[in-house]
Amino acid sequence: MNLKDKIIVITGASSGLGSAFSRVLVERGATVFGLARRTDRLRALEVELGSAFVGITCDVTDEQTVIDAFANVMERSGRIDALVNNAGLGIFGPADEVTLEQWEIQMNVNLKGVFLCTRAALPVMKAQNTDNGFGGHIVNIASVAGLLGNPNISTYNVTKFGLKGYSEALFKEVRQDGIKVSCFYPGSIQTEFFDTAGIPISANPMTAEQIATTLVHVLETPDNYLISEIVMRPLRPKG
Ligand SMILES: NC(=O)c1ccc[n+]([C@@H]2O[C@H](COP(=O)([O-])OP(=O)(O)OC[C@H]3O[C@@H](n4cnc5c(N)ncnc54)[C@H](OP(=O)(O)O)[C@@H]3O)[C@@H](O)[C@H]2O)c1
Repeated sequence: MNLKDKIIVITGASSGLGSAFSRVLVERGATVFGLARRTDRLRALEVELGSAFVGITCDVTDEQTVIDAFANVMERSGRIDALVNNAGLGIFGPADEVTLEQWEIQMNVNLKGVFLCTRAALPVMKAQNTDNGFGGHIVNIASVAGLLGNPNISTYNVTKFGLKGYSEALFKEVRQDGIKVSCFYPGSIQTEFFDTAGIPISANPMTAEQIATTLVHVLETPDNYLISEIVMRPLRPKG
């Protein structure tokens, strides 16, 4: 897909990967609709990126708010070429100390949010799958925690393994509709993620900008070429 003039929805655009994705996609000529709860952060990105970035205040765990946000995108643009399900969080700690609230917030953002946004985008993308056989692209941001269980991240593991299953099922379900589904499995990235995770970041993490170069590559592949999964890691995690 040539990104120029394309309409891309990114969840969790207010920091970290979502902001880096927004910057690089606007640079490539796309219009980005960035969803997140922190309106002040979204307004700051609007000032930085100009009219090609539109912030929409949205809690991805709230069904009606998600429906309204996608209706807003459709009203303004009439199409959705890509959806990046990026909003997510991890709260780490021993399994017997995880509170129900911590369990639910991770399930709700990392899985229910992806489900609600994907469900809102799919009918639009299916309708866009006309003569050229390409309707749109959904990119899910999982984690290496979606591939490997590890001590003290059991709840986060559940959500990202779940996202792996959802992505695989969806990829097989909608490929005949001309919709690409790609799932990313990154290791440690320098973002605000670790402020809430409760563990220190590794010594030599990747940067959000590095992951963004891979997003551009995956989105720009020719229409009949799908990269369904991709794992990225720092080379020397201990520095
Ligand atoms: N950093 C890493 O090492 C790493 C590694 C592998 C995978 N990941 C994944 O990468 C994704 C992005 O994380 P990040 O590293 O960029 O962390 P981050 O800087 O903390 O960003 C998380 C984003 O998610 C948004 N978000 C959280 N809850 C939300 C909700 N209910 N509704 C809407 N947006 C919500 C936040 O926006 P608001 O607070 O403004 O709503 C924020 O923009 C996550 O899915 C994470 O699991 C991160």
